[in-house]
Amino acid sequence: MSIVYLNGQFMPIEEAKISPLDRGFLFGDGIYEVIPAYDGNTVGLEPHMQRMFDGMAAIGIKCELTLEDWKAIIDGMMEKNGGGNQGIYLQVSRGADIKRYHAFPEGVTPTIFAMANPIKPAVEANAATAKGFSVATTQDLRWQRCQIKSTALLGNVLHFQQGYEGGNDEILLYNEKGNLTEASSSNAFIVKDGKVITPIQDNQILPGITRKIILSILEKDGSIPFEVRDISMEEVRNADEIWVTSSSKELAPVTTIDGQAVGNGEVGSVWEAAFKLYTAHKFEY
Ligand SMILES: Cc1ncc(COP(=O)(O)O)c(C=O)c1O
Repeated sequence: MSIVYLNGQFMPIEEAKISPLDRGFLFGDGIYEVIPAYDGNTVGLEPHMQRMFDGMAAIGIKCELTLEDWKAIIDGMMEKNGGGNQGIYLQVSRGADIKRYHAFPEGVTPTIFAMANPIKPAVEANAATAKGFSVATTQDLRWQRCQIKSTALLGNVLHFQQGYEGGNDEILLYNEKGNLTEASSSNAFIVKDGKVITPIQDNQILPGITRKIILSILEKDGSIPFEVRDISMEEVRNADEIWVTSSSKELAPVTTIDGQAVGNGEVGSVWEAAFKLYTAHKFEY
């Protein structure tokens, strides 16, 4: 039975109850995080928590838990759910009011929730055995504050579903200028002539922790050149490689875009080199 954390207590998931007036339920008024752990070791715990603190500050949720308090919740979730490979999900909503009204209520206590979902073991950094993802593409119709990791994910859900119904693993999104933003639940990278390129971090994309860790590792290592800049969809379609990144999928190589082969249609050698570096260094973050 899965053990979750709700407002100060660990309990079986069946016992976890919240008010239907919770603003997370009514408005998607909350912030969340997903932190991966392999064999009980987290990846990017502090940057994930910093993004969560930034998100709460951005939408004015005052949650009194400190980094140490969160670490204790995360350790408790790992321990009570058998350790191993887990995606630790954390969520803070603005809390439950006594009526449905848009303005932030005075004096409500945020609702704090955490659960652990088993995740697959990390895949091997081997281009010959890695599964290639297929992606669709569509115009990014989400809101203009995509840097906030809000629980209001309907825009992302609708985009993901569109790709999923076409048999795809993800869907790449582009803005009204025809430039790549990210994917519905991942950041996006391309590779051209040996160089890794990813869009600029602005309000159009989530500041992905996997993206951040990869860029930091590439910078420190120095063997693979990279650039952060606008990328047109024409460049995406002509790329040698495309990757999508997230805490649950790490670096996933994309081999099909809108039914067409990416590059030569095989998982690429730059992906393999970058993923080897990521695998070697991810627990340092
Ligand atoms: C829209 C979106 N972009 C990017 C990411 C990747 O972020 P991270 O690497 O922190 O998991 C996610 C992860 O859920 C996401 O939902």
